[in-house]
Amino acid sequence: MTSLVQVDIGAAYLEQAEDTLHRRILSRKEELADRLLLLAHHYQQEAVFRHADATGDSLKLARIAAENREKSLIVFCGVHFMAESADILTNEGQRVFLPDLRAGCPMADMATRPEVEWAFAELGQVIDADGLVPVTYVNSSAAIKALVGERGGSVCTSSNAERVLQWALAKGERVFFFPDEHLGRNSAAAIGLAEAEVILWRRGRPLGGNDPEAVKRARVILWDGYCTVHMQFSAAHVEAWRARDPRVRIIVHPECRREVVSRADQYGSTEAIIKAIEQAPPGSKWAVGTEINLVRRLQARHPEQDIHSLSPFQCLCSTMYRIKPAYLLWILDHLAAGREVNRITVPAVTAASARLALERMLAI
Ligand code: 13P
Ligand code: SF4
Repeated sequence: MTSLVQVDIGAAYLEQAEDTLHRRILSRKEELADRLLLLAHHYQQEAVFRHADATGDSLKLARIAAENREKSLIVFCGVHFMAESADILTNEGQRVFLPDLRAGCPMADMATRPEVEWAFAELGQVIDADGLVPVTYVNSSAAIKALVGERGGSVCTSSNAERVLQWALAKGERVFFFPDEHLGRNSAAAIGLAEAEVILWRRGRPLGGNDPEAVKRARVILWDGYCTVHMQFSAAHVEAWRARDPRVRIIVHPECRREVVSRADQYGSTEAIIKAIEQAPPGSKWAVGTEINLVRRLQARHPEQDIHSLSPFQCLCSTMYRIKPAYLLWILDHLAAGREVNRITVPAVTAASARLALERMLAI
């Protein structure tokens, strides 16, 4: 769970001017260069992102951490589940730190291990729970990944969810997909499942709000989690852009609702969105349905293209935004002084099971 307590870092950091913070971060980075690997997710604000040694989507960053065995200090500028994944995939000599412990992912927190275990038990009264293969989006806690590993399931990311879903459907009779309803629904549609084969598990209702016959007919059962940022995009936004300029290309993240993804020209992970725009001919016009810091960065880096947010409002991931330069400097100062603060550790037993689920995905 990500409601961890972040200590007050004090006015000496919080009231520091931006350029002073910038200079001090650069000098700490130089001092720690042999041991430090600073990773940043694409949704990080520019003042943090510019200090990254490597950037990427959630899984790519965990892999980079694991590949750089000589780096013992991994400072993860992203959210809690990403730092956990990095800790699971790295070795004993590597330690992972999150600059602000309040940087959680609300969607990941929407599925807890006790809730999912309860759902499995309830479903087991209607169907054979052994034929129900769990698939968890990487945006989930280590405890959820461990449960999935123990039950023979796999992790997936926004770039391989369709492939993992196909694998799981071939392995068992049904798939239990969590925590993101929308990634699950979009992936099920992409592999050709009919709407009637996909049902929603609503937390807090008996049998997830389904009747037993619907559960027996289902091929995919979706948890009712969602991303508050991507829920802000709607079909009306897509239609408004189409009416304004028929040349516009709409590209969105698959955490958006079905009504948005089905109307878009393209969808994909943050890496896939970046690649599509990088490879487009100059003068292309885009409306992008994802977090605003990434959209702004694309605008700044591709002045040859005409890039807009799909929504007229600022769709900001406020938990990612908690990682500010002041917190980054604070953690680097502590590490330089040999003090460990905000270390993210996954207990060994949990990590072993979660690793199974991650490794299954890598093998698929
Ligand atoms: P990516 O893995 O596509 O970067 O997405 C992570 C995320 O949290 C999207 O909201
Ligand atoms: Fe979680 Fe959504 Fe933020 Fe991604 S954008 S970290 S899914 S809340």
